[in-house]
Order: sequence, then C-alpha cells, then structure tokens
Amino acid sequence: MLTWVDVRMPSIELDRSYLIYIDPDAGAEVRLADALQKRAQGGAIGVVTDETVAMLHWERIEAALRDRGMRVVSVVVPDGESSKTLSRAETVAENWVRGGLDRKSVVLALGGGVVGDLGGFVASVFLRGVPYVQVPTTLLAQVDSSVGGKTGVNLPSGKNLMGTFHQPLFVYADMSTLTTLSERDVSSGLAEIVKHGVIADPSLLALLEERAEDARKPIEEPVLLGELVRRSCTIKAQVVAADERETDVGQPGGGRARLNFGHTVGHALESASAHAHSAAGPLRHGEAVALGMLAAARIGVALGPGDPTLEARLEKLLPRLGLPIDLDRRLDAGVLERLNVDKKRSGARIHMVLVDRIGSTVITPVEPARLAEILLGSKPR
Ligand code: NAD
Ligand code: GLY
Repeated sequence: MLTWVDVRMPSIELDRSYLIYIDPDAGAEVRLADALQKRAQGGAIGVVTDETVAMLHWERIEAALRDRGMRVVSVVVPDGESSKTLSRAETVAENWVRGGLDRKSVVLALGGGVVGDLGGFVASVFLRGVPYVQVPTTLLAQVDSSVGGKTGVNLPSGKNLMGTFHQPLFVYADMSTLTTLSERDVSSGLAEIVKHGVIADPSLLALLEERAEDARKPIEEPVLLGELVRRSCTIKAQVVAADERETDVGQPGGGRARLNFGHTVGHALESASAHAHSAAGPLRHGEAVALGMLAAARIGVALGPGDPTLEARLEKLLPRLGLPIDLDRRLDAGVLERLNVDKKRSGARIHMVLVDRIGSTVITPVEPARLAEILLGSKPR
C-alpha cells in the first residue's frame, strides 16, 4: 500500500514542505508519472540518471511519462562518485539547454545518492533554479540522501565541498527498484539506517539487531524494507524540519548536524579510498559511514561523553549487515590529514557528533590533532 511521510518545514515558506511517497506496489511508475504531471504544469522534464539505472529502470518510467504527453530530455552520467563533479554538472546543464528546457521545466533525479546530489545541485542553479523531484533507486538514497534538500558535488580536496540547499517538490521511492541492487549497495544503505537508529531511535536499532540477515534481502522481505525506509525517512524528516540548514547546533542533540554522525572520519576514509588501489575498489558511502560510526564511538569514549557500549554493539551488528569493521587497518596519517578539509570544521576545531546513549547525541568541538591522537593511539601495534 502506498504510504507517505510528510516533511513539514516549520518556516513560513510552506511551499518547501513536501511528501515522501513510499510505493511498494507494481506499476509505481504510473503513479509517479501522475504525480509529476500534476506538478509539472506542462513544462518539459529534464532527467538525470546513471548508466546502470538507465538500463534497469528508465524505460518503463519514460514510457509512463510519454504516455501522458510529457516532453522528456534525459542525460545519462557514468555510475559512481566520480560523476559528482562540477564538470559533470556543466555537461548535464548544457544538455538540458540544448534540449530546450526552460524555467517552466521540472528536473527528475532518478538514481542513487550520486545522481540525487548531482541532479539536485544542477536543478538549484540551472536558469537560477528550477524545481526537481527525487526518485531514489538505492536503499541509501531512499532512507537518506533524497530527503532534506542537501545537494552537491565534490572537489579534489574533499567530498560535498560545493553544494546548495534545494528541497525537492516531492520524493518518490519506488520500492521495486531495490530488487535489482547489488548486495554491497543494500548493505551500504543499511549503514544509514543504523545511523538513524543510533542517533534517534533505539527501537529501530533493536529491529535491525533482531532482523539483520532479513534486512539484506529486499526481494524476500519487502515489508521489512518498507518499514525501515518509512521509519528512517520519518526520523530524517523530523530532524531536517527542525533545522533545515544545519545552523542550529544549539538545539538539544545538535540539530541537523547530528545526521553527520559517523561522517567526519567516514568522509575522510571515503575520499582516501577513492585514491587507493584496492581490489574491492573505493568504499561505498555507507561502508565509510559504518567505519566512521565505529571511530565516533571510540572518540566519544576517549573524550568523555560517549556511550561505552556503542563500539562493541556496532562491531557485532555491522558485519551481520555486510558492512566492514576493519577501521584500524584503514586508519593512517594520510586519512587523518583529510579531516582538515572536512566542512564541518568550525575555526580550527571539528564539530564531532557523539552518542552519549543510544538515541541521543551531543556535539563536541575537538582539535583535528586530538582526533588523530585518539585514533592512531588506539590502534593495535
Ligand atoms: P550511487 O548513487 O553511486 O549508487 C550506488 C550504485 O548503485 C551505482 O553504481 C548505481 O549505478 C547503482 N544503482 C542505483 N540504483 C540501482 C538499482 N535500483 N539497481 C541496481 N543498481 C543501482 O551511491 P549511493 O550509495 O546511492 O549514494 C551515495 C552518495 O550519496 C554519496 O555521494 C553521498 O555523499 C551521497 N549522500 C548524500 C546525502 C544528502 O543528504 N544529500 C546523504 C547521504 C549520502
Ligand atoms: N546526510 C546529512 C544530512 O542530510 O544532513
């Protein structure tokens, strides 16, 4: 049954409030096309997707749009993080201009977090900003990146260093897209659900602990996956609605910044892995967040307020979800050097999100050198 989560912005600009549709039934593309037609008001649709998603899911969505007489200009980018660049953003925009998109057009970002971040970014600056719709096709995008309006691209110095806040018109999670995901990408999405449980909802974490193996099976367990997506989106929507632009770290728990739990060290590991030559290739975003959460748990204890049970609990759960825990093996001075360009720095200090008990966070400013000392100092020799 189609359900939705309401992202209700508290400000007077109610036009930025929106719904996240979670559709588990066959034929979701027809309902997506109907929703889009209502909102597009005759404008053309500028699509951005990646090669894999184009091959697996675009045809049926395109057919549903064309059946309704909608004009579509699509751009397909290569898969993966390397597409989150300014030069790729330029290519997408240039293709839309050549395809005749104008200010009445609506953008459709169809794909995982990479396409969502890139498409949302271009939509926010294309012709000084056009509306867009997120159609997340990875678990990670359905539970996290498609919600909340953060868009962006990477710079050579680090992840997401250029970006905007641009809320979508709506989010449409067609749950059937999860059935074609690789095991590794299912696991990557589960990491962000773990994060939501750890920072905001002990019962969500307990559900994952109870059904870890089932959560890795979107084909056999669609009801469980639907529940995990809905509960994650509800948490993210509440946090974003209370502090849309991540400016209110003074809120209890640290406002939107709490969603960055695991991301400080996680981003550094993810960027470092993109330049390393390993058989497994670069870390997936969720894999990096899993390792980053372990690091944050350890740092929390070293600095004082951290829950002393968290690291061991995560070490037990993450492998059951197909996620890595080999933090010590991956930490080195080069990785920690990358913490210096993390955008969550304030002055010379990094705002670390720490968990003082499951479901509760505190933000602690800390010198990068102190983080390095804690992490390298705790490595087994
Ligand atoms: P991704 O978009 O690279 O997708 C992972 C892989 O899955 C890609 O190869 C893609 O082609 C493939 N894929 C996508 N949908 C598929 C499907 N239905 N079936 C089979 N394959 C499919 O990565 P991701 O993990 O979705 O997202 C990671 C990105 O999201 C990172 O860049 C991260 O920084 C960003 N992110 C953004 C936010 C935000 O709030 N904006 C939050 C979290 C993460
Ligand atoms: N993923 C962090 C945020 O959306 O704020």
